[in-house]
Amino acid sequence: MTSLNPRIQMSTMLSIENAQKRNWKQSAKEFAGQAIATLSPQRAEQLFEAPASQPSGLQDKLIMAYLKRRAMRKKQDDFFERLHIDFWQGDGGAVFSKNCDHRFEDLFLAKQKEDFDILRDTWNSHQPQHIVEFGCNSGILLQYMTTELHGCQTATGIEINAQQVRKNQESSAFDSRIKFLNADGGEWLLENGKANSLFVSNGGVLEYFRRERLDEMLTHISSNLGPAVFFAVEPVANDHDWSKTTDCIPFGEELSFSHNYTDLFESNGFQVIHQRPVEFESWKMMATIAVTR
Ligand SMILES: C[S@@+](CC[C@H](N)C(=O)[O-])C[C@H]1O[C@@H](n2cnc3c(N)ncnc32)[C@H](O)[C@@H]1O
Repeated sequence: MTSLNPRIQMSTMLSIENAQKRNWKQSAKEFAGQAIATLSPQRAEQLFEAPASQPSGLQDKLIMAYLKRRAMRKKQDDFFERLHIDFWQGDGGAVFSKNCDHRFEDLFLAKQKEDFDILRDTWNSHQPQHIVEFGCNSGILLQYMTTELHGCQTATGIEINAQQVRKNQESSAFDSRIKFLNADGGEWLLENGKANSLFVSNGGVLEYFRRERLDEMLTHISSNLGPAVFFAVEPVANDHDWSKTTDCIPFGEELSFSHNYTDLFESNGFQVIHQRPVEFESWKMMATIAVTR
């Protein structure tokens, strides 16, 4: 996530405005990138289809700067989604837990007890049997939920970073009901999702999916996998006014998507029963609990 980048001041709340702002240096890079893309259209096309989240070499860095700016202007959300997948499959996903696992204590346990208490009540009244966590990374939250929520029969952590999944699979620290799988969350859900599940995304996972894919995933759950509960804790842009737009908008330095989570769940067959923002470092984290209608 953006916090991995030391250039970001942790006190600045992530916004659409800072994603769109550009200084002369960035503008010069994008302009140079556009010129290079015109001279090397094949390379530009390759990088559009398979974006490099950590480009090496000046040429690729400049082309990527141009492609990102163009994608924002033209709303090429599929490009950003491929960019995020590239980041998380590589070092981004592999080093995340070392830098960010402290958030489990400092954010989830310290500031989100109210959300978890409501989730526990919802779990008790709906009695799901399975927990599925998308983007579980080191599995710390999945372990907590599996042992805290009574009567859970199976727990599955779906994670796109193969290295982190291998580590989790080799660890003996997890409850025996937990299984970790290396897969894309959306693809796994459409092929393997079951009814009576609690689906979880925590600390920013749905922010890497474009709206069209989330619509497909949530409609699949509400049409084919009900009853189900969804617990999402996702960062949103500080200046994203949900009363004015249901668009998803790239924000922050990594240009992940700020979604309108009320509209996302309600327009896809869920009822939102709890929603609460919490500020932590540079994030406005929105907790949502939604159940299938
Ligand atoms: C910001 S981290 C959050 C990790 C963890 N949930 C937490 O709160 O610490 C995002 C996680 O989602 C994973 N991820 C990103 N895109 C994914 C996808 N399409 N399918 C499955 N996992 C994904 C990343 O590899 C990473 O582990």
